[in-house]
Amino acid sequence: MKLKKIELANFRNYEKLELEFLKNIICFTGLNGQGKTNIAEAVSVLGLLSSFRTNSYTEMIRFGEKYFFIRGEFYNNSGRDIEVGISFDGKNKKIMYQNKKISRFSQMWGKIPVVYLIPDESIITTGPPNSRRDFCDRLMSLTDAEYISMLSEYNGVIKQKNKVLTEMKSGNNSGADIISVYNTKITETGSGMYDKRIKFIQDFLPYFSEIFKFISDGLYTGDIRYETQMDKDNYSVSLKKMLVSEKYSEIRRGVSYIGPHKDDLDFLVNGRSLRKFGSKGQHKLFLVALKLAGTEYIKSVTDEYPIFVLDDLYSEIDERKSLQVAKILDKDIQTFITTSNSRIIDQLDPNVSQLYRIENGKCAAVF
Ligand SMILES: Nc1ncnc2c1ncn2[C@@H]1O[C@H](COP(=O)(O)OP(=O)(O)OP(=O)(O)O)[C@@H](O)[C@H]1O
Ligand SMILES: [Mg+2]
Repeated sequence: MKLKKIELANFRNYEKLELEFLKNIICFTGLNGQGKTNIAEAVSVLGLLSSFRTNSYTEMIRFGEKYFFIRGEFYNNSGRDIEVGISFDGKNKKIMYQNKKISRFSQMWGKIPVVYLIPDESIITTGPPNSRRDFCDRLMSLTDAEYISMLSEYNGVIKQKNKVLTEMKSGNNSGADIISVYNTKITETGSGMYDKRIKFIQDFLPYFSEIFKFISDGLYTGDIRYETQMDKDNYSVSLKKMLVSEKYSEIRRGVSYIGPHKDDLDFLVNGRSLRKFGSKGQHKLFLVALKLAGTEYIKSVTDEYPIFVLDDLYSEIDERKSLQVAKILDKDIQTFITTSNSRIIDQLDPNVSQLYRIENGKCAAVF
């Protein structure tokens, strides 16, 4: 998927902007606070309908204005043109896909695949298990509609169960039977989710390992393991048993803690835990490799590369490894890069890339 044209009106610090993209690598440079991330944000909002920075469309309206508007012209690898328009007037969102109004976000899901990497996502390798589950769930959701519905059904049951557990903790004793009903559902949907996650990691891992080794200049090997309290070879039976044996403990604690919503991914570098022993640069490289592998995974499933958005890519990566990253990006995948590091610009080849300098919401083409 490629974005060939973007138009912004009153979006963040852009009053008006129109850019045409003809190359595969599009780099935005400039000093801090000038609007680089704002463009990266607009590109991902066009594809995913949500921002990586906020859940509020209101924040994206230019200060002092009443609405914003973003429009994108894309084309996919079978040469089909796709047009998306998003506007928001402070109250109503209007989303147009091929000039038709979209009433539900889910109608757009996966149509314009975007993978982004933003500095806040360092939490994926450093943070609590839910950040790693989210990474995996999000990537799987882009390619597997069945997984999206399993996940939303499962999360719905956990939410209901937690509500009953909270009530029981505060003295209401009438919920034990309904907890068993929820547990049956958790076993059924939860083991389906587990099967899909294991399959995903199996398919994803070869891409990841190869890319991680390459961008770390052959220095590191990376691995990903699925971590769970359940017996991995007998997940469904083990989940069912644990839900029974821990039922009263869950009631006592007032929270549901048995099931794939508590599973984790263990990230390893040269066989050792990244979280415990990794350096800052190793964390960042691991993350870059996870995202790059994500683009390959999406391509393998859907036959279409997503658009790749890399905000502040080069912070924390040394020069030698950033060269490796640049090499791997040099292929048929459209990549938007923002950086305030002007040295990186020397690595861009004008034959395959476009460079813009941004100053206070104005964007000038360098080449
Ligand atoms: N709704 C808005 N309306 C107008 N300006 C906004 C809005 N939201 C953010 N800004 C401005 O946009 C600027 C930040 O833009 P952005 O995050 O794109 O910077 P950046 O170029 O990526 O900087 P850095 O290099 O520090 O990451 C800030 O000056 C901020 O005040
Ligand atoms: Mg920024």
